[in-house]
Amino acid sequence: MARLLITGGAGFIGSHTCVVLLQAGHDLLVLDDFSNSTPLALERVSALAQLDNQSCQARLQVRRGDIRDPAGLDNLFAQSASAGAPIDAVIHFAGLKAVGESMRVPLRYWDVNLTGSRCLLAAMDAHGCRTLVFSSSATLYGYPECVPIPETAPIQPINPYGHSKAAVEQLLHDLAASAPNQWRIACLRYFNPVGAHPSGEIGEDPLGTPNNLFPFVSQVAVGRRKSLQVFGGDWPTNDGTGVRDYIHVMDLAEGHRAALDCLLAEPAQLLTLNLGSGQGASVLEVVHAFERASGRQVPYEHVARRAGDAAITVADPSLALQRLGWRTQRGLDDISRDGWAWQSANPDGYDEPG
Ligand code: NAD
Ligand code: WQD
Repeated sequence: MARLLITGGAGFIGSHTCVVLLQAGHDLLVLDDFSNSTPLALERVSALAQLDNQSCQARLQVRRGDIRDPAGLDNLFAQSASAGAPIDAVIHFAGLKAVGESMRVPLRYWDVNLTGSRCLLAAMDAHGCRTLVFSSSATLYGYPECVPIPETAPIQPINPYGHSKAAVEQLLHDLAASAPNQWRIACLRYFNPVGAHPSGEIGEDPLGTPNNLFPFVSQVAVGRRKSLQVFGGDWPTNDGTGVRDYIHVMDLAEGHRAALDCLLAEPAQLLTLNLGSGQGASVLEVVHAFERASGRQVPYEHVARRAGDAAITVADPSLALQRLGWRTQRGLDDISRDGWAWQSANPDGYDEPG
């Protein structure tokens, strides 16, 4: 079992991954500035992992802090080592992720995503911790030239968010090349993470109006919003709406555990893997799956295409199966059922008592 630093561990994907890692027996130290999350998520993580008070203090430690603070990071690594529990590996979720916002405030995105990652890597290097799982994104593929998309497809991001993720991947390549036998790195390119823990205790809680399809649909179903705008009905797809590869967040969490196990077991390497299901679903298929799961209607209207959208993005996930023995286990109906469990029990997200 390892002791892991989880940056951004209170966020959507981080919180679900913490549950899986705790259940696998790892000890966690979460670093989060809570700029897009709440400590309540971690309280619920600890309940879901069935940690009692004593083991909670030892197995799920939480520090409020910023990944761009070199002194804070240095303290974290040094204190852990001097307490006899050095950090063995880092899972790095912390970052900003909204495409539209990245076009309005690119400096902020480059700062948090690139400078933050550089500070983290410098601290890791200084303290001899050279095992990292990094949250990359299918956004790197931009408008894909072939679908399903293999990891060898060209990197051609089309917005500042994507550019910042591509830059971190490049930095990781440069670092690994500088000390080939030392760094163990997995860049995991997520497709469209959605759904929630089946308990409905933790889930996605976007600030303000959701940018993404799934949280928007679930907020319509629960009555927080009137109707969904479907961006484009004339795409070259089965029903004219955009097709994406939706991956259940618990499958994604299990992918992180598998990647970590692989890095810890194998010689030093840099792995780059798509994490997706390999299955595409259209906007209308998502709407109908959610209606079935919730028993609610999701009214929608067709509007113009959204700038920057591709018609279809679907992962080729075969390399992850080959290298990690991992594949998704849950489909659109599971995603919708678990997403609804979260949304219906927490109509206002973490703001509302569950
Ligand atoms: P999230 O916003 O829910 O989680 C990110 C967490 O990082 C939050 O808890 C936030 O408070 C924290 N954070 C932000 N800036 C920080 C800083 N400077 N210092 C410390 N903590 C900070 O996002 P998520 O959906 O869980 O995404 C996690 C990672 O996965 C991100 O790097 C994101 O770019 C990447 N990713 C997400 C998606 C997606 O659709 N959700 C897809 C592909 C990749
Ligand atoms: C899915 C489909 C929309 C909202 C984004 C980021 C990507 C990654 C995941 C981080 C598309 C349609 C959406 C709505 C709609 N994030 N849609 N009405 O754009 O595939 O990916 O999240 O790395 O970088 O770009 O996801 O959920 O926004 O859209 O019709 O109100 O739903 O046009 O076809 P996307 P999404």
